[in-house]
Amino acid sequence: MHLNGKTALVTGAAQGIGKAIALSLAKAGADVAVSDVNLEKAQETAAEIAALGVKSVAIKGNVASMEEAAAMVDKTAAELGKIDILVNNAGITRDNLIIRMKEDEWDLVLDINLKGSFNCAKAAIKHMSKARSGRIINIASIVGAMGNAGQANYVASKAGLIGLTKTIAREYASRNITANAVAPGFIDTAMTQALPEKVREEMLKQIPLAKLGTPEDIASAVKFLASDAAAYITGQVIHVNGGMYM
Ligand code: NAI
Repeated sequence: MHLNGKTALVTGAAQGIGKAIALSLAKAGADVAVSDVNLEKAQETAAEIAALGVKSVAIKGNVASMEEAAAMVDKTAAELGKIDILVNNAGITRDNLIIRMKEDEWDLVLDINLKGSFNCAKAAIKHMSKARSGRIINIASIVGAMGNAGQANYVASKAGLIGLTKTIAREYASRNITANAVAPGFIDTAMTQALPEKVREEMLKQIPLAKLGTPEDIASAVKFLASDAAAYITGQVIHVNGGMYM
């Protein structure tokens, strides 16, 4: 599953799952642009990638802004020569029960997780359509399929992202652009480390493989979808969750 000669943009790649994805694509031979709101950490990831012997560039940008999203896609194409692979990974949570959820909590999560992915996809499709080739991989979530109390905004954003994935797949198949989602279960990152211990323990009980996933578990699925081995796969959701949802 090599990616020699390919270029990729991974959003939210300064840390966590995005960083693991960026490193995994680079280890497979791709040149990788690392975008994030946190430029300092994105630069650290880009330096780790460059040390692997491929090209890398760190780009500061907020995916929720259509202008900034377009600029990060265009910068990727300018600095790396083209954009073959887009991984929409940037995402946040602002958990609350529906009756307590504030309008700004709803808006922020939808703006970053859903609109942010739309913004980046829209900009990338312009380049990929011209090239008549491209891979768009959206990082959804197990809860986008299951629902989850306390996460109405997040669940809606991830379920929406799955719908967006299928629509991109249908709209751009004729341009040889595939779109798929990877839906992580409960992965050990800053996002889940922020959860109360009790919630983490309860979640663990629901995982048949009886452990949290690692960012690398998600990166493996993304690398597969980005590779030639997945050329005939489009509009799909690959669940990587230790059996928590079947
Ligand atoms: P994380 O919080 O460790 O990393 C997210 C990264 O996105 C950070 O570097 C952050 O600076 C960046 N980011 C946040 N807002 C941004 C914006 N507006 N524009 C650009 N970058 C932005 O999170 P983690 O756990 O690595 O999650 C990555 C993705 O995986 C997210 O989409 C998340 O929803 C999804 N996911 C994570 C799960 C988990 O268990 N950790 C489970 C299911 C899905």
